[in-house]
Amino acid sequence: MQIRIEKATQLKQKLDEAALGFGRIFTDYMFMMDYTPETGWQNARIVPFGNLSLHPASTVLHYGSEIFEGLKAYRRADGEVQLFRPLENVRRMNNSAERLCLPQIPEEDGLEILKTFVSLEKDWTPHAPGTSLYLRPFMFGNDETLGVHAVHHATFVLIASPVGSYYKEGINPVKIMIEDEDVRAVRGGTGYAKCGGNYAASNRAGQRAEEKGYSQVLWLDGVERKYIEEVGAMNVMFMIGGTVVTPKLTGSILPGITRKSCIEVLKDEGYTVEERLLSVEELGDALKRGILQEAWGCGTAAVVSPIGELCYKGEKYVINNGKIGKITQHLYDTLTGIQWGRIPDTRGWTFLIK
Ligand code: PLP
Ligand code: COI
Repeated sequence: MQIRIEKATQLKQKLDEAALGFGRIFTDYMFMMDYTPETGWQNARIVPFGNLSLHPASTVLHYGSEIFEGLKAYRRADGEVQLFRPLENVRRMNNSAERLCLPQIPEEDGLEILKTFVSLEKDWTPHAPGTSLYLRPFMFGNDETLGVHAVHHATFVLIASPVGSYYKEGINPVKIMIEDEDVRAVRGGTGYAKCGGNYAASNRAGQRAEEKGYSQVLWLDGVERKYIEEVGAMNVMFMIGGTVVTPKLTGSILPGITRKSCIEVLKDEGYTVEERLLSVEELGDALKRGILQEAWGCGTAAVVSPIGELCYKGEKYVINNGKIGKITQHLYDTLTGIQWGRIPDTRGWTFLIK
């Protein structure tokens, strides 16, 4: 694929790495390309970061035809920059695209776009511990008509943001409220796709939880409101009586790459991992019997985020005395170790940017 680069006349000032936060600062450039049924993907270009110009009838603005991905570039101690399992993101984006009737991107093109863009913006990958360059590829329907139908014209964009920790708590345990009113997704819907609408629909519950002093919600399934699905915008895992239990991918859960990596690491190390339905009753029972040893969320942004307290129907349950558990810490150390190059990558998960 041919990528045209339009150089910026002036580059931005890099900011204090200690004050990065999440997703507020953007790099000098962005990648873009457009799709039409006649030409396929065309006009692949890297241009100075700036606002997009859209037709007011553009599909995305009315019918929410939008999908995105999230992955990071990590600065190793030797100064090199690497990605973590980027092909998984390219594949998941194509699965999301299939669900939303958006066009596919050939896997080799997806990887080449990431490689070329990150290589150009490499200097933006921060050095401070726990920081990284968050990459946000996204695609949206761009037909200039109000008709409701499958997307014909689309735009793909890749932007990047140097980030620190996702939660203000960092790796400290967060308080989570079990949501029994709103649901995030239903089977047959778009839960397994990473589409913007899922997040818009989850904001109300998240906001209500925050107002009550919680960081996020634990989602229950959309049919029976009984089975645990995800925590905020992360997958969730529990250590119950020595076994790691995580909700199985039923269609309403996003198949997380961090989730998959945690399962692979744990299984390699001899832990029993069960991917199955886990009801809120079973969880409550495990809490009361004192066998719920650990709970954590996992996702690219926070990597692994321990849950120190769960609230269900007004009752509060503290997990592991509100402290990070042994397995949670071990997973955090292992994954971040591989991502930042502190631990040798024996599984071919890292992808060096030249
Ligand atoms: N679940 C949801 C809803 C998400 O948005 C994400 C983030 O990407 C995840 C889970 C975790 O996925 P990953 O580990 O691939 O970042
Ligand atoms: C994650 O990376 O875990 C996320 O959920 C990203 C979020 C900003 C949507």
